[in-house]
Amino acid sequence: MLGWRFSCVLVQAAVWLLLSKGERMCPTSCRCEGKLVYCESGIFQDIPQNITTGCQGLSLRYNNLQVLMPYQFAHLNQLVWLYLDHNSINAVDVLAFHGVRRLKELIVSSNKIAHLHNNTFSAIPNLRNLDLSYNKIQSLQPGHLFGLRKLQNLHLRSNGLKQIVVRTFLECRSLEFLDLGYNQLRSLSRTTFLGLFRLKELHLEHNQFSRINFYIFPRLTNLQALYLQWNRIRAVSQGVPWTWFKLQKLDLSGNEIQTLDPLVFQSLPNLQTLNLESNKLRSVPVEAVAAWTSVTTIGLAGNAWDCRPSICPLMAWLRTLRDAKDISMICSSPKSTQGERVVDVVGNYSNCVNVISSLPPSPDPSTTSFPEIPFEHMAFHKIIAGTVALFLSVSLILLVIYVSWRHYPNTMRQLQQHSVKHKRRKKGRKQEQDLNSQLQEYYLSYHSNSETMDSLVNESRPCTCTISGSIECEV
Ligand SMILES: *[C@@H]1O[C@H](CO)[C@@H](O)[C@H](O)[C@H]1NC(C)=O
Ligand SMILES: *[C@@H]1O[C@H](CO)[C@@H](O)[C@H](O)[C@H]1NC(C)=O
Ligand SMILES: *[C@@H]1O[C@H](CO)[C@@H](O)[C@H](O)[C@H]1NC(C)=O
Repeated sequence: MLGWRFSCVLVQAAVWLLLSKGERMCPTSCRCEGKLVYCESGIFQDIPQNITTGCQGLSLRYNNLQVLMPYQFAHLNQLVWLYLDHNSINAVDVLAFHGVRRLKELIVSSNKIAHLHNNTFSAIPNLRNLDLSYNKIQSLQPGHLFGLRKLQNLHLRSNGLKQIVVRTFLECRSLEFLDLGYNQLRSLSRTTFLGLFRLKELHLEHNQFSRINFYIFPRLTNLQALYLQWNRIRAVSQGVPWTWFKLQKLDLSGNEIQTLDPLVFQSLPNLQTLNLESNKLRSVPVEAVAAWTSVTTIGLAGNAWDCRPSICPLMAWLRTLRDAKDISMICSSPKSTQGERVVDVVGNYSNCVNVISSLPPSPDPSTTSFPEIPFEHMAFHKIIAGTVALFLSVSLILLVIYVSWRHYPNTMRQLQQHSVKHKRRKKGRKQEQDLNSQLQEYYLSYHSNSETMDSLVNESRPCTCTISGSIECEV
């Protein structure tokens, strides 16, 4: 009886020892850090044995895994992240991820997956980040993404995707980032992106779109950045009228756009960054330029600019930008300006704005898209800006005089006496001294008397008055 009890305790101790040893064991050829296991030595064709059951992070990157079997990870039910990228996985069983309900991050990029089963990911509903890029998934349908209600980032770059069935993302109501770039997509429908009302960033670059109608995007009310560069887009149009308030960044570079539809930009009141480089633009309609009210960064290089005076409104707008990248804009017509920088040519149209407003209606088709009303609009803006600048300059001068009168009344009196003497001395000669030179003299003598003025007016630092009323000095 006693012996039996003793042996029972012994067995229990042995089992406990084995288990606790198993917890601490690290598979051969792997590196373990607490509950994180890294098996990246390149020798694994299967999931290594002896991985601690409390494992929370498992990396099997850069190995030679080929198939993910049913319940492959079920013994690792504490897994939070799982990296399987850079293997040769070509088949994923529909039950492969059953038993790892806690998984938040799954990276399966750079494999050979060509086909996904419906509901493959519905066993891991807590997933936040799913990376399937650099595989061979040619078609995507709603069943593939069933259950991913918490997914925030979905990477499908470079898969040879030709088709996305409508309503595919309907379950992905938490998605904020979607990368469909570097695929072979030719078209999207109005219901393709149904359900993605949290999406902030959408990558559609390097596909095969030939036209984009913004009509397909109204569901994406929270989108902030849309990447459409390096497709074959010839036309971007607006479809039904609606306003896309959140969009801040639009990349259309590397396409074949010849003309811009002003309606598109009128629907993007908060657009800040616009890339139109490497297209076939000859000109930009004045209405489009006028709609770029929030744009602070623009790319216009690599187009076929027509450098007749009709380009003046665009150049005038560019001059108002803080860091205009217009330097690399090159003229391609008329012939006499071919190959020259647009800024150089426009510099020769010495009074660009006047040239335009007095321009007779041109028979050239490229300038017919510039109606008269917006010119008046532009000129009106100029008048307002000029008036404000003049007003601010005058107020600045008055302020300086007032401040110096308040703080240095003696100096002022001396100055007045000095100037009176000076005038008497000069009485015989020229009586008419203009206000400008008097002001100059005042500043100079003031400068020699007081050191406090050094910082404000210093001859060695040329200062300019900006429209905002501040003084900018070169250092
Ligand atoms: C797993 O652990 C057992 C017992 O310690 C050992 O014999 C076996 O080689 C280990 N297997 C691997 C793949 O590490
Ligand atoms: C997968 O789900 C889609 C609906 O998204 C359905 O049309 C299709 O028949 C399903 N495929 C299989 C093999 O069950
Ligand atoms: C601009 O003017 C300069 C001299 O005034 C001239 O040498 C140059 O060829 C002109 N450029 C164009 C594009 O007309």
